[in-house]
Amino acid sequence: MTEVPSITRRFSRRQWIGLTAASAATVASLFAYRRFGRGEALAATPVTLPEVTLYSEKDCPCCHKWAAYMQANGFVLSTVIVADVNDKKNELNVPDDLRTCHTAQVGGYIVEGHVPAGDIKRFLSERSVERGLAVRGMPGGSPGMESDPKVPYEVLAFRADGTTRVFARA
Ligand code: CU
Ligand code: CU
Repeated sequence: MTEVPSITRRFSRRQWIGLTAASAATVASLFAYRRFGRGEALAATPVTLPEVTLYSEKDCPCCHKWAAYMQANGFVLSTVIVADVNDKKNELNVPDDLRTCHTAQVGGYIVEGHVPAGDIKRFLSERSVERGLAVRGMPGGSPGMESDPKVPYEVLAFRADGTTRVFARA
């Protein structure tokens, strides 16, 4: 006899918790719906950028500046310091004539040199069959090379065979 009321009490309490959680979720979703509308609420969902792994040599100030610039532009980036960055370029088959100070990997692609973050984001969103993006040399005014006088440069999309197309001009 004494067991029955206690079971009833426990059961109704669990039900109450369940109902409270359910109604809280409903209120929250109604609030989101009224505030943003369905389409806007979906569009407001942040797009997660793939993480960047940067390979550079220790004594490369412009490489570290590019890393900081990428982080400031929303990328999670980790730097791997290598003794000779060319070993990594060989391993990743970076075309010889595109090689410059640093190499990065992001979302299965390669980023060679001082490529602007906005171009990387656009390239990632296009899900290109190309191998990656590159900026030849280290043009003054490119991200990480801000202290130099600005010169025009091209951002190239490249394929595994080394062929390129102009992806952007800056
Ligand atoms: Cu550099
Ligand atoms: Cu660099």
